[in-house]
Amino acid sequence: MTDTNKQTQPNILTNAAGAPVADNQNSKTAGKRGPVLLEDVWLLEKLAHFNRERIPERVVHAKGSGAFGTFTVTHDITKYSKASVFAEIGKQTPIFIRFSTVAGERGAADAERDVRGFSIKFYTDQGNWDVVGNNTPVFFVRDPLKFPDFIHTQKRDPKTNLRNATAAWDFWVRHPEALHQVTILMSDRGIPKNYRQQHGFGSHTYSFVNAANERFWVKFHFKSMQGIENYTDAEAAEVVGSDRESAQADLFENIEKGNFPKWAVRVQIMPEAEAETYRINPFDLTKVWPHKDYPLIDVGVLELNKNPENYFADVEQSAHNPGNVVPGIGFSPDRMLQGRVFAYADAQRYRLGINHHQIPVNAPRCPYHNSFHRDGAMRTDGNLGGATNYEPNRFGTFAQDANAEDPRLAISGFADRYNHREDDEDYYSQPAALFALFDAAQRERLFGNIARHMASVPEDIQRAAIDHFNKIDPAYGAGVAQALGLK
Ligand code: HEM
Repeated sequence: MTDTNKQTQPNILTNAAGAPVADNQNSKTAGKRGPVLLEDVWLLEKLAHFNRERIPERVVHAKGSGAFGTFTVTHDITKYSKASVFAEIGKQTPIFIRFSTVAGERGAADAERDVRGFSIKFYTDQGNWDVVGNNTPVFFVRDPLKFPDFIHTQKRDPKTNLRNATAAWDFWVRHPEALHQVTILMSDRGIPKNYRQQHGFGSHTYSFVNAANERFWVKFHFKSMQGIENYTDAEAAEVVGSDRESAQADLFENIEKGNFPKWAVRVQIMPEAEAETYRINPFDLTKVWPHKDYPLIDVGVLELNKNPENYFADVEQSAHNPGNVVPGIGFSPDRMLQGRVFAYADAQRYRLGINHHQIPVNAPRCPYHNSFHRDGAMRTDGNLGGATNYEPNRFGTFAQDANAEDPRLAISGFADRYNHREDDEDYYSQPAALFALFDAAQRERLFGNIARHMASVPEDIQRAAIDHFNKIDPAYGAGVAQALGLK
């Protein structure tokens, strides 16, 4: 308990109905040694409320930390986007960021080998814009139909209730598009030391629309201004042995000390028409756009400078949703993004309820009039009072805004279930480019990390993985084979 909780004139403790509580030390009993009485409504209320303290954890990214801050525009990108968040240099927008690990439950240790979630809510003056990204620029799969299967291989085995490396590698060797992300995950960057010293990525291709209604495809990058720091497997094991909340403590304590973490916001921009001819499918979430083709363009700076007053209120109840976009920022044909546009709001309706937009951390900070959504569980804001609840109406209540409409998008072809993994596809050159950047020591750690992770996996799966690594680079396959003691 902090000093701020100390009160010279204590407020009177009340029950939920506001009435004073006479005794918070002793239950009301029948006689000095007898059973408690049903009429002890304070005891009943206290036990009943306690029973309901937990809400469902996020189905993925359950363990996380968050903080508030600001986004400041440092460079003019209005030729790409008309979004008011970018309107002028120096403009500041409040933000909330939640960082997370993916596979562990709400009580999992922070220093685990896993992707980190990097989810930013911008409270813009045109509504909330959420970039729900990771600390990696790519992902394991590229069709949303695959996401539940993939996550099942990362979570606990249905029988043993243990994490199951065989399931993970069985899945990965059958999905060569995962190799890029698997290589990042098994590399030094697989265990960031904390949430401050890692980059963030929007990962997907989104769209920008400018005032002339021209569309650009865009990727978001958030470069840590604290630099990058990672743990090795051995260091992480030691940290977890003594501190399961290492990243939470690091973030909280640095912000308390006034050492505010910052990220440089940069974008890659592709004019709309170039998507047709670019050698890489720009809507494939398992591929990056090389910087030599699409260089990074400066936009601004994110700074985290305020810890939440209450973890549950702001971090546990935060709802981040890639479907939250504002005029000037939109989606793309990336089908993973389209799956996510459904999944998040749906998950939050289940996890937090239909009126989760009213929870302060989620509520827009600009005037908003979603007047045709009414009622529902836990509607606590006056429910728009007597405002007209249908549209169109003769009163002109709440007009639609054509400025929020995206330019039309050309789409062609037959509706079908197209094989999203063509035979001649290149799964290997991007992980090869990444592997080429690793020095000898980094490669040795990569081989060791993979070998330890795969130790319990049947040999046929180990060999299938090595076949893929060989296609990335023979030195990659040979290194993993040697670390596993395989010929
Ligand atoms: C959380 C689904 C892919 C990053 C979640 C949640 C769901 C979900 C249901 C929990 C939401 C909640 O309860 O509030 C999916 C589906 C995907 C997908 C269906 C693919 C089709 C991705 C990708 C990324 C990502 C590609 C990153 C590029 C995150 C993050 C969170 C999250 C950061 C935590 C958000 C927070 O801090 O509250 N995902 N996800 N997910 N996902 Fe995904």
